[in-house]
Amino acid sequence: MYDFDNSSFTILVADDQEPNRELLSAWLTAEGYQVICAEDGDKALSLIRSQEIDVALLDVVMPHRTGFTVCQIAKSTPETRLIPIVLVTGLDRPDDRVHGAMCGADDFLSKPVNKHELLARVHSLVQLKQFTDELDNAETVLFSLALTIEAKDPYTEGHCDRLSKYSVALGEKLGLPQDLRVALRRGGLIHDIGKLSVPEHILLKPGPLTPEERKIMERHTVIGEEICAPLRSFRHVLPIIRHHHEKQDGSGYPDGLKGAQVPLTARILQITDIYDALTTDRPYRKALPLEKAFAIMREEVKRGWWDGSILNEFEAVVHGYEPVHPAGTRS
Ligand SMILES: [Fe+2]
Repeated sequence: MYDFDNSSFTILVADDQEPNRELLSAWLTAEGYQVICAEDGDKALSLIRSQEIDVALLDVVMPHRTGFTVCQIAKSTPETRLIPIVLVTGLDRPDDRVHGAMCGADDFLSKPVNKHELLARVHSLVQLKQFTDELDNAETVLFSLALTIEAKDPYTEGHCDRLSKYSVALGEKLGLPQDLRVALRRGGLIHDIGKLSVPEHILLKPGPLTPEERKIMERHTVIGEEICAPLRSFRHVLPIIRHHHEKQDGSGYPDGLKGAQVPLTARILQITDIYDALTTDRPYRKALPLEKAFAIMREEVKRGWWDGSILNEFEAVVHGYEPVHPAGTRS
């Protein structure tokens, strides 16, 4: 187990009542924690966004923004979602816990706050934060590795980042839940991580690959899945990594899945991947205009490669949600 030095942890105490802030702050400071205070919801949110906070204690009823709102915003923002949040609520407000849970609160404390309960809660949450920070670091290492693959080919620079943004936008348009949108963001960045196992003379070969080389190249899907499998937080990303080269007619790899067997998130990534490849410069051709790119993709939908309904949705996203073709004329 970890031997904690509390002085390395920063606790945010947000409460509009000064005596409450002072009391909680005094108890926590006596235990060695660094404490910063906020007197309203806006200040609390700006501290959460700008400081390294290890645990946030939020009073529910505060001016400007309530503890609920601050919690909900922090938990729906990738950079702050791992900060443990405790809502401090009056005993006479039982519905607060339900509402708080809906906003993503990690825990609750009842007013008047009991000193021992507070310190026990904060102690366990700083440990949780330590573990999640390490998980975050593991993810960061994977993302950095994925970028080294992209860096090998100057023509793909920025590809994964754009892919990530397009895929999340398409996921939003399709009404996907947040966990799948997060998976799309990660999948965009990391789907080709298995290419680490592909020798450079194959990876960067300008001409067509031999059947043997193709086999090695195609294994990047399976190896990518193996690399990321140990991370629990990547469980929704694994299907994207494994299946991003499947085709609707079953002619893709590695499993020859057909139609709806290809996971929805993988079908989304395929569309954004091809779109980005067609609309950026390549060694063998210049970037294609949007309409030309979509015409090619519609042809490929007819050939049985991609999901046509997702392509239509993506066209709407790219064109700012304006339908480009009259109903019934799309492939
Ligand atoms: Fe790939």
